[in-house]
Parts: sequence; C-alpha cells; structure tokens
Amino acid sequence: MPILKIARMGHPVLRAPATPVADVFAPEIRRLLEDMRDTLADSGGVGLAAPQVHVPLRVILFSVPASRSETGEALPLRAVINPVITPLSDEKVTGYEGCLSVPGLRGAVPRYTHIRLTGLTSEDVPIDEELHGFAARVVQHEADHLDGMLYPARMEDFRAFGYLEEVERYPYALNQENP
Ligand code: NI
Repeated sequence: MPILKIARMGHPVLRAPATPVADVFAPEIRRLLEDMRDTLADSGGVGLAAPQVHVPLRVILFSVPASRSETGEALPLRAVINPVITPLSDEKVTGYEGCLSVPGLRGAVPRYTHIRLTGLTSEDVPIDEELHGFAARVVQHEADHLDGMLYPARMEDFRAFGYLEEVERYPYALNQENP
C-alpha cells in the first residue's frame, strides 16, 4: 500500500479535466482508492482528488473532522466516484482553504453553502445527498480538482492568501463570515 507522490501546483495533471470512472470494481480503481486513502492518512489532509496523485480520473476522498462539523460529529473518510455538484442556493461564504498540492499556503475562497452531491460510493452505490457548511466546502474544493481547478483560481481577494504560519498569526478580516 504505497503512499503516492502528490502533484504540486504547476504540474499539468492539476490543470487537466479528469475522466469519469467506468467500473468502480476494476482492479486499478480498487488499488487507486486504497493508495489514495493511505496517502491522505499520511498527509493529514481532509480531502484528496485522484489528479493530485497523478491519476486523471474522477475520484475524490473527503472527511469532516468533528471540530469542523456543524453537528459536532465527524464525517468519516469516504470516496465519491464521478461526483457531480449542484448548488442549492446562491449563498456563498468565504473561508480559508489549504491544499496538499499548494503546500504551506492558505487562501480565502468563496464557496456555496448548500449543495447537492451525486455520484457513486466506492461500492458502486448511488449517492444523492445535500451538504452544508464545511462538508460542502471540502467537496467543492475536491471536485474542482477534477476540472483542473486549484483554489487560488477561485479567490477574489489575494490579500487573504499567505503562508499558514503568517495567516494564523495575522488573521486577515474577511468581508464575509469566516466559517
Ligand atoms: Ni486540494
């Protein structure tokens, strides 16, 4: 179960649109899911998309730690294959994000607060659910990776972009509520 190398901003795999997965149970997809889980666990991140490990397929992993959950309960790590996101309202909130492909940095990004997520689980079961808050943010971030989009391209105010240590030390007051 190897820990995969993570592509960093500037690598073309992060700019390319990813291809849908045809067969969730194909051996190479089982191996990819396992390796992505190991890679994410090793990194300490909350989400990972297959293009970040140099595989241009529409696969994401995400979890929500209890500290970031609206209910106070963690959402355990899960995979979503071929995810599709539909905003369920026009409301967006700007909040800080980081990315394993943009190491050491944080930036404030507006995201929809309420989305519908469809796709398949790692066991080929259809997903159709509504997500709010941090879960909605993480899924939008990860799904963007499948369209060749990194979070800095979504930023509207580059004053809210910096190195993690500095951003934590000198918080920049966002115009909107900061989740
Ligand atoms: Ni990312």
